[in-house]
Amino acid sequence: MTVTDAVTTIRVEGPTPYDVLVGAGVVDRLADGLGEAQTCAVVHADTLAQLAEPAAAAARAAGCRVVSLAMPAGEVGKSLDAVSSLWDALAEAGITRTDAVVAVGGGATTDVVGFAAATWLRGVRVVHVPTTLLAMVDAAVGGKTGINTTAGKNLVGAFHPPAAVLVDLGLLATLPAAEWVNGMAEVVKAGFIADPAILELVESDPDAARRPDGAHARELIERSIRMKASVVSADLKEAGPREMLNYGHTLGHAIERVERYTMPHGHAVSIGMVFAAALAHAAGRLDADTAARHRRVLELVGLPTSYTGASWSQLRSAMRVDKKARGDRLRFVVLDALARPSILDDPDEQLLEEAFAAVTT
Ligand SMILES: NC(=O)c1ccc[n+]([C@@H]2O[C@H](COP(=O)([O-])OP(=O)(O)OC[C@H]3O[C@@H](n4cnc5c(N)ncnc54)[C@H](O)[C@@H]3O)[C@@H](O)[C@H]2O)c1
Repeated sequence: MTVTDAVTTIRVEGPTPYDVLVGAGVVDRLADGLGEAQTCAVVHADTLAQLAEPAAAAARAAGCRVVSLAMPAGEVGKSLDAVSSLWDALAEAGITRTDAVVAVGGGATTDVVGFAAATWLRGVRVVHVPTTLLAMVDAAVGGKTGINTTAGKNLVGAFHPPAAVLVDLGLLATLPAAEWVNGMAEVVKAGFIADPAILELVESDPDAARRPDGAHARELIERSIRMKASVVSADLKEAGPREMLNYGHTLGHAIERVERYTMPHGHAVSIGMVFAAALAHAAGRLDADTAARHRRVLELVGLPTSYTGASWSQLRSAMRVDKKARGDRLRFVVLDALARPSILDDPDEQLLEEAFAAVTT
């Protein structure tokens, strides 16, 4: 076995600890996450049937009866209708309390399948096999599941930690470049809030950082997962430190909302991080070089760092309904220094406008 074929195990602690396995071909280790399951529903995004075959084969090899189910890919699959169809399919498949569900797809798929697993029979075992960078480093790790409703995105959900997460690097071969770049926003975020070595890897070889087959792809993925695993291990239910994962997301979510979700999440978060850095600098918390480094690193990976869409007042109203806001006061995750996140509560309007000016130029 070569070094690149080795499997890395990252433990996530909490009420129900589990492992995230990273490596090429780790889907073959599915049996580790299936427990006593006799029947296994392998649910995949409808466009990714081929990527789900190795998971189905591994479940069969583990002695499971396998039922393969397809979900609409992407956000349209995160609906109550889709969950309802999935509940019906799980009933038909005869999934009992000791059986298992396996989700194969991007973050939309792991979110909705995770939610179906959290609610079917009040909770059955789920194993995530993420197929996008974003799902590998973020959505599939941490136990949050959810769907969208007419009132908004991710407003209905449950905390339901998976039994295992299999980050099979081979699944990235078919990922469109734009989806990779989208996920890099969360990787860069991990670099700024916790692990500056990520930023150094991007700066040392920007071309490689823009591609799933780049020289540092595996290290970028593993470092990002380790960061997320360590945060959620200490705070599954967002009672405290998990809030730092929201870096760049307060303005990012507002931009997504006013743009009616036509802007990719990673692009909005990228702009949101440049804003948060400018805000921290304007508030006298963050040095100018670290603030400027945000724009530089994000541009190196091909992410946008400025925004000329909605006005500040539209975005400000959109931010008021953010899950992290407290009443009428806005609350931002900012940096006091590289890898030192903290909270800026109720900043002055003038500081906010100054920071917004930094992303509109
Ligand atoms: N639960 C959490 O903690 C959490 C965290 C972050 C994001 N999310 C959620 O994740 C979702 C976004 O996830 P995403 O960016 O992975 O998007 P996605 O699941 O919509 O996938 C994006 C597109 O890529 C395609 N695709 C996926 N893998 C592929 C592959 N290997 N090859 C070819 N095509 C592939 C999908 O079919 C889809 O069309 C959002 O719904 C967001 O709310 C959840």
